[in-house]
Amino acid sequence: MPSWEELRETCLACQKCRLAETRTNVVFGVGNENSPILFIGEGPGEQEDLKGEPFVGRAGKLLDDMLGIIGLDRTKVYIANIVKCRPPQNRDPLPDEQEACIGYLRAQTALLRPKIIVCLGRIAAMKIITPDFHITRDHGKWYDRAGVRMMALYHPAALLRDPRRKAETLPDLLAIEEELKKIAGTAE
Ligand code: URA
Ligand code: SF4
Repeated sequence: MPSWEELRETCLACQKCRLAETRTNVVFGVGNENSPILFIGEGPGEQEDLKGEPFVGRAGKLLDDMLGIIGLDRTKVYIANIVKCRPPQNRDPLPDEQEACIGYLRAQTALLRPKIIVCLGRIAAMKIITPDFHITRDHGKWYDRAGVRMMALYHPAALLRDPRRKAETLPDLLAIEEELKKIAGTAE
């Protein structure tokens, strides 16, 4: 298994899909490499592409607020995306691009060994939890995969577009907080 540093270096030089042609920076991921919780977005937007860091635009500010509600911040979680390079015009990453890139996220997950995975939005939930995930129906539900608890939240960008969904997101966040407390209680 590669180290974090080896994985990052390989990823930063990646040319495995067409998104390499239009990116400014590869957005590898950030956060605490010992965190029990991994947040997975869809792919970099404009600001992320410019800075090489996930969730630094408007949606990222909202994500920081959401983390803050349950006492978390970027030093306590790990944040990554399904695709590491920005899709042009922020279109959805295509299935072949997701497939080309998913190995990096799988390697990040293997290094991190999180207890909880939170998918941000439909694209991540369909790739990580189940292809028939419906975000309006299934957000906030727990799924168990090989001892890892998984849930999806509405994507912060969707919450910016439709703020009425914020009220629905609060109980989901509180359920994550509860689960983290349980994990801390059973930690060796
Ligand atoms: N949206 C995402 O899904 N990921 C980011 O990093 C930024 C916005
Ligand atoms: Fe490589 Fe992923 Fe970027 Fe495609 S999106 S070039 S697979 S790092």
